[in-house]
Amino acid sequence: MKHFFPILNKKINNHKMIYFDNAATTQKPQIVIDCINNYYTDLNSNVHRSMNPLAEKATDAYENARKKITQFINAKNTKEIVFTKGTTESINLVAKTYGINSLKKGDRVVLSAAEHNSNIIPWLQLKNLGIIIDFIPLAKDLTLDIEQAKKLLKNPKAKILAIQHASNVLGAIHPIEKLIREAKKKNIITLIDAAQSIAHAPIDVQKLKCDFLAFSAHKMFGPTGIGVLYGKEELLDAMPPWQGGGDMNQEVFMDKFTTNELPYKFEAGTPNIAGVVCLGAAVNFIQENFSKIKAQEEELTKYFLDQILKLDFIILHGPHNPKNRLPVFSFTIKGIHPHDAGYLLGEAGIITRAGQHCTQPLHSCFGASSTLRASLAFYNTKTEIDRFIKEIKKIYQKFK
Ligand code: ALA
Repeated sequence: MKHFFPILNKKINNHKMIYFDNAATTQKPQIVIDCINNYYTDLNSNVHRSMNPLAEKATDAYENARKKITQFINAKNTKEIVFTKGTTESINLVAKTYGINSLKKGDRVVLSAAEHNSNIIPWLQLKNLGIIIDFIPLAKDLTLDIEQAKKLLKNPKAKILAIQHASNVLGAIHPIEKLIREAKKKNIITLIDAAQSIAHAPIDVQKLKCDFLAFSAHKMFGPTGIGVLYGKEELLDAMPPWQGGGDMNQEVFMDKFTTNELPYKFEAGTPNIAGVVCLGAAVNFIQENFSKIKAQEEELTKYFLDQILKLDFIILHGPHNPKNRLPVFSFTIKGIHPHDAGYLLGEAGIITRAGQHCTQPLHSCFGASSTLRASLAFYNTKTEIDRFIKEIKKIYQKFK
């Protein structure tokens, strides 16, 4: 599958590049790169504004992408698909509109201890309203403690469950179906952060019965700076607009304005039109390759775990079982700072990420100030894993 991704032919310091930083962002297939080029060569115009032939073509392409995404996650209709800058903006939109307008002093928002900053800080910013944030703790194996989750969701003051589908650090896929079921028993609104899971297996929002779902294009082979907020129509309809500006209004007077219909009321200003259109191209790519993506990721997950767990100088933070797991592996090497190891891997052409991966609270749960992360995608290979393991052994020998 590498041949679809031109950047994967790159060399670094004369080594064939190995790209193991897919949880940070995935690489882009030629079809997405061509889409961006074609958009600006052939189509560029503003949407929903002008009645000229070019603007009509651009508007059609933009709205066709919305239809594609509606079908991709099985939303009921296009009104439920709002384009945002990415997962972070999608979650902020919910917290700053639904959250601010519906939560009262003493109400509780339930998160997990594994959340990314983008699903912690927007809620912490509501604390001045007297809102209490609960964190579902992690069990010993760093999976979510479901019994504790059930207890937190039984609290009559719990009003929102905002939780990631899969961890960008641990690789664990959480049992969100179960958690949504528990939340629904108490009419708790559910928001799923699907940033890390959207490219790995199909998501059906009607089957999941979640109220909101957020994801970013750049983690699903699409462009950066564009993402989606799915929301149930009746909820989006009742929410006030967030940002004010062009396209989110119907009529504007010197002392008031009226709000546009869904989903435009949440899309103020000229949107990232090329981003939306080419997110559509990324969705086509994923849909054509979903079975290959799944099969290869499962194979790579098993192989990576087999290889890394043989190394007694590695502490792997996250499930050791390949089931319900993505090929995302964060670990520490005894006696070596993750930044040093990450730097040396980079010199050998292996791209990883070292640090806290925007999850300081999670890192404090397992007592590491930072980790080294290798995150794989379906275009990676077992041969690359072998080279990675060889380099890790070399680094260990060097520092030992
Ligand atoms: N959330 C991204 C990561 O995990 C940026 O690296």
